[in-house]
Amino acid sequence: MNRLALYANQLAHHLTITDNRTGKTIEVPISTSRESDFIHATKLGALQYQGQPLRVYDPGYMNTICCTSKISYIDGDKGILEYRGIPIEELAEKSTFVEVAYLLINGELPSKSQLQEWDEKLRKHTFIHTDASQMMKSFRYDAHPMGMLISTLAAISTFHPEVNPALAGEGVYKNKDIVNKQIYRILGSLPTIASNSFRNRIGREHNMPHENMSYVENFLYMLDKLNEKEYKPHPKITRALEVLFILHAEHELNCSTAFVRHLSSSGVDIYTAIAGAAGALYGPKHGGANEAVLRMLEEIGDLKNIPQFIKDVKDRKKLLMGFGHRVYKNYDPRAKIVKQIAYQVFEITGKEPLIEIAIELEKIALSDPYFIQRKLYPNVDFYSGVIYRALGFPTDMFPVLFTIPRVAGWLAHWKEYLNDKENNIVRPRQNYVGPEKRNYVPVEQRKEFPIYLESNKSSRQKRRETATLS
Ligand code: CMC
Repeated sequence: MNRLALYANQLAHHLTITDNRTGKTIEVPISTSRESDFIHATKLGALQYQGQPLRVYDPGYMNTICCTSKISYIDGDKGILEYRGIPIEELAEKSTFVEVAYLLINGELPSKSQLQEWDEKLRKHTFIHTDASQMMKSFRYDAHPMGMLISTLAAISTFHPEVNPALAGEGVYKNKDIVNKQIYRILGSLPTIASNSFRNRIGREHNMPHENMSYVENFLYMLDKLNEKEYKPHPKITRALEVLFILHAEHELNCSTAFVRHLSSSGVDIYTAIAGAAGALYGPKHGGANEAVLRMLEEIGDLKNIPQFIKDVKDRKKLLMGFGHRVYKNYDPRAKIVKQIAYQVFEITGKEPLIEIAIELEKIALSDPYFIQRKLYPNVDFYSGVIYRALGFPTDMFPVLFTIPRVAGWLAHWKEYLNDKENNIVRPRQNYVGPEKRNYVPVEQRKEFPIYLESNKSSRQKRRETATLS
């Protein structure tokens, strides 16, 4: 729709709201978009009462649009996902992760030479500072790889003070070259950081990046190379992981991507913002769900335990992890592709036994009124964990495998945010229900309120408490 038509449409559609506290009536224009029509929340501020503007209340952002974006489009009812307008199914079939990252971050598919240049830039940034590598080695042997990844990303911000807005000035990201450089650094070095976190876990030296391998191939190489002269990951495994990377690269304003914008709005450096977003992704309701799915399948353990598990879910004792989505109220289009990849991977690795439990769970859930009524379908994480398991990844690496590609989406949103004329520091309002104004009471005159202050105690602590202290 052109601007004039859009304006005419906005004039034509509006809400007429009468405030029965004051009798005031306002007209609020309705804006239209491909996704859903909306009103500007600030317009409601014209309805003042006792000096206070009317506000909207929306915990969990169930019905709130907080930015304008051109990066990805989702139709949750129809099960559609597009990156920059291109259906995810086409990208999964025809593209590479590096090309998809270019598309997301720069808005268009690259020409041949642009793709080559982009690929080279990412390759040149695969090496991380030896101090960062050294720092990673100081984690405990059993540190969760996400903990290592998040801390290392945050730590890398200290390696680049010259591009940190806190030190170099707020305007530093107005320089496009500086913005691009951080994109190359972060995207290029992520597989190295991720593979280092894995190598720590298995007690092996970190591998140096390979100069002639593709992004995904190099990642697999750094994870697995031992003392072989030549080590080349299986092309079908590389492609399977590549497709999983494409599927996970972007998903509009999910919890972690919204957080990138939220953090960037404070002006913090992009390394800290990405580390913060990775923290959000780590949670079991978000990117940690694939890990949670695997733990759930292991806990079920046998087909005969599924009915009891489903009963527990319906009794609200448990969640069926890998099911449900804030946006999709239909089969997640990514889950369909992931299910196909699972079988391609099994052809090489052999079948992962947990797939039987996953398929049976899906079958029962999709025919049970509890799940049908709530429109709960498998999401991208339902089958991806089973593939990662078949590929030999330890469960705690799963969220890392989600984070690497999702960083492409986060960087696309960061770049879009930096160029967004409407951007402003994110600062929601609250509904205060605490005490009215009251005076400070000196400790001797205070009444004691029953407040729960206990915390859990280890057996060691209990033993120590039996000791005689002096
Ligand atoms: N198992 C059982 N019941 C569920 C589930 C589930 N996985 N998900 C939602 N429900 C129920 C929920 O109890 C509620 O029931 P009722 O209306 O009777 O109270 C109803 O379905 C609506 O759920 P909701 O919590 O209002 O939905 P939401 O949009 O707030 O939550 C979700 C979305 C993804 C957090 C949730 O479905 C969930 O926790 N799923 C399991 C975790 C998971 O697989 N997360 C990965 C999401 S996809 C990858 C990503 O984007 O990160």
